[in-house]
Order: sequence, then C-alpha cells, then structure tokens
Amino acid sequence: MHSVFIDTLKGKATSRPPVWYMRQAGRVLPSYLNLKEKHSFWEMMKSPELAAKVTLLPVYDLGVDAAILFSDILVIPYAMGMGLDFTANGPVFEKPIRLIDKPLDALHPNPDNLNYIYSAIDEILNKRPANTPLIGFCGAPLTVLSFMIQGLGSRSDFSDAVKWMFAHKQELKKLVEEVTELTLIYVKNQIRHGIDAFQLFETNAGLIPNDFYAEVFLPSVEKIAQAVREEAVPFIFFPKGIGNGLEMISPAHADFLSIDWLTPMELARKILDPKIGLQGNLDPRLLFASQAAIETELKKHLAFGRKHQNWIFNLGHGFLPGTPFDNARFVTDWVKNQEWR
Ligand code: CP3
Repeated sequence: MHSVFIDTLKGKATSRPPVWYMRQAGRVLPSYLNLKEKHSFWEMMKSPELAAKVTLLPVYDLGVDAAILFSDILVIPYAMGMGLDFTANGPVFEKPIRLIDKPLDALHPNPDNLNYIYSAIDEILNKRPANTPLIGFCGAPLTVLSFMIQGLGSRSDFSDAVKWMFAHKQELKKLVEEVTELTLIYVKNQIRHGIDAFQLFETNAGLIPNDFYAEVFLPSVEKIAQAVREEAVPFIFFPKGIGNGLEMISPAHADFLSIDWLTPMELARKILDPKIGLQGNLDPRLLFASQAAIETELKKHLAFGRKHQNWIFNLGHGFLPGTPFDNARFVTDWVKNQEWR
C-alpha cells in the first residue's frame, strides 16, 4: 500500500506529513449529518453497509490520509451485557456499575457480540479506494470503565466513578482484567479482519492520579499494545490529559503517541523516548477561527514536524460538534500541500 500515513508510522521517509482526524466522521461532515437524519447511531454501527459508507465519507469529503472505523468505544461494555442507549445527552447505561451490588457477577462478556463490527471491517476493505489505510480502535480500560461505572457520559465529570474507583480498588482491578480480556480478543479480531493501524483512546487519562494510573491501568495498555504490535500493526496511544504522566510512557506502550492540545509538542518531544513518534495536536476549537488565524497556527505545527518528521498531523482531541466543514477542508488541503523538501 502506498500510504504516507503507514510509511510514517513505520519510520519510513515520506514526501509530506500525513493527516487524519479524531472524530472525522461523526461531527463535521454535512454528508454524515444528513445520514443521521434518517438513521440512528446504533443502526449505522450495526449495518455493515452504512458503517462502511460513513467510515469512508471523510476520505472522499475531506481527503484525509486514513479512514477510522465507524464504531464506538462503548461496544465493549455492550458486549458484556450492559444495556446502552445513545441519547441527545450522550451515551447512557441502563444500570451503571456503581449501582450494582456484585458488578462482576452482573457482567457477561460474549466475544460474539462484537461480530457486527468485523462485518463492517470486511465491507470497508471491499469498498475502500486504493491506498486508503483503515485504522481500527477501541477505548482503553480506564476510559471504558469510567463510563461503565458512572453510567452517563458526555455531560459528566465522572466524579462518582472516580470516588467508586478509590472506594473499591480490589473490585476495580478485577473489572480491569475483565475489560482487558475482552478487549484483547476484540483487537486481535480487528487485525484478523485486516485493519492497517490501531489507535487506543484513553480520553479520560487525566481523571485519576498518575501513580494510580500506573498501578491499575498502564499494565493493560501495555498488553493491548503488545497484542497489536506482535501482529506487525502500528499502534498509536492517545492518553488525553495525562500531563506530567507522559514521563510514565515508554516505547513498550506505543509506536506513536497522540498528544492532546494542553501539552506543547516540543515539551512532549523532550519528555518522551525518541523511538516514540508523535501525533497531534491542533486545538479543535481553533477550527472556529478565521482561516488566516488557523494558517498562523498550522505554520507552527509544520515547523515542529519539519524538525522531527516522525510526526502525524491531527487534532489534540476530536472535532467538536458544529465545526465549520470549510475550515476542516482548508486544514486538510493545507497540510497535504506541504513538502518535506
Ligand atoms: O469519526 C468518528 O466519529 C469515528 C467513530 C467514533 C465514534 N466514537 C462515533 C460516535 C470514535 C472513534 C468514537 C470514540 C469515542 N466514543 C470516544 C473516544 C474519543 C473521544 O472523542 O474522546 C469516547 C469517549 C466515546 C464515547 C461516546 N460515544 C460519547 C461521549 C458520545 C456522545 C457524544 C458524541 O457525539 O460524541 C458517543 C456517541 C457517538 N460516538 C456518536 C458518534 C458518531 C454520536 C451518536 C449520535 O449522534 O447519536
């Protein structure tokens, strides 16, 4: 496959920096917002044809260098038997873990409950334009468990979930094992079905103290990284909000690290082992500014990329709802028009 994205991940020289975006399908494309009028999110995820169609929309509409599977990180708790609804206020679980007496007995992980996703991957690989790599993904155990324990997602600061984690540490460790076990099966199956790269989303890395993270969650990240990399699939880790915790990250955790918009790229570069490539980190809110203001920032990002090169252009977190499509297209075209030489 001729791909600047895959070549960069594998440490090969490229003519220009690669570009893709977190949440590139679900929030910014007029074509997606149209489909959403007709189909629910579950319907789109569960239909291989619709999931494949949405996955490839950003490749056609934005011109990004990679597609990311259209799915969600919460398919893992759903496959463990937790009732899950996606509402206007974000994802809601029927019964959050913090309200269940014996949560370990209440969960019933069934790997077959993820089969609809592999059908979507098959369909995407059939339909994709040549040289379009597909990124597989899942949520990391802390982020997935913070939703499972809290129950209600996007409008929450997860404070009940964090209190529960401090109060039930032994039970938490068992839950981490359960989630990790199913995640490992899920990841291996995504690879078997042909994904070209993998990103692990740890959106809630900043919820708990670093030493708690290092003790309870980081070993799982390493296991997931290992499972992906032993199949020769490049692995990107996105620990959003990890801050000083960057010091805990070693080459055992990732080929590339996706940096959030709170951390300057040069600082991340200084802290991290040179073997780890970097992805990021344009502030997604900048997309609401004028194109002149956006270009000023892009030049700074490119200067960083020129200096270090093992770099993938992306946002410091996903596109925000309401992001002007024209600005997303402007950024993509701008990055693709650069040349390293
Ligand atoms: O481009 C894409 O959208 C790719 C597919 C994708 C979705 N979710 C689709 C989605 C990806 C990569 C995710 C990851 C995800 N899901 C994360 C990690 C990344 C991040 O943004 O922090 C998290 C924390 C979730 C959990 C989740 N799912 C939330 C908080 C929400 C509600 C808010 C929202 O719209 O994102 C969802 C629902 C969801 N996931 C939607 C989509 C397209 C919206 C569904 C709808 O409109 O009803």
